[in-house]
Amino acid sequence: MIDLELTVNGELARVRVEPGARLLDVLRGPLGLPGTKEGCGNGECGACTVLVAGRPVCACLTPAAEVEGLEVLTVEGLVGPGGDLSAVQRAFVEGGGVQCGFCTPGMVMSVHALLERNPDPTPEDVREALTGNLCRCTGYAQIVESALLAARKRREAREGGDRA
Ligand code: FES
Ligand code: FES
Repeated sequence: MIDLELTVNGELARVRVEPGARLLDVLRGPLGLPGTKEGCGNGECGACTVLVAGRPVCACLTPAAEVEGLEVLTVEGLVGPGGDLSAVQRAFVEGGGVQCGFCTPGMVMSVHALLERNPDPTPEDVREALTGNLCRCTGYAQIVESALLAARKRREAREGGDRA
């Protein structure tokens, strides 16, 4: 077993894990964060997308030992202190980007990462950012619309001085 220290959703976390443990299992297991989903388990569907040091990664392919000392952001970390959803989460609900919801946490994290680096993306930028995220339900059009709606909401929030 190895001891790891990492920051998850802004809080310091210490866990003891098997040397080969995947970040996905550590998040869903000892850290009690089931929002990150496992679809394929081999890097093809994006359901397990989380941000490590601000970059989207597949938690199913990421050894937990590799995130020692780094910041991890999961879909739970986007929720505000009062339980309010982030602009991206609200946009997915309002924009019809959620159907069965299984792909949604990964989609939301990929869109969050995109908007952090590009607050005003084109539809093509969104599609490119989501190439690693698969959805069986929506046909993607509503997801792209939701991402563009999220970008508008974040810009408006920023202009109004609200939480994005
Ligand atoms: Fe990680 Fe599919 S579960 S990419
Ligand atoms: Fe069902 Fe995307 S909403 S897989």
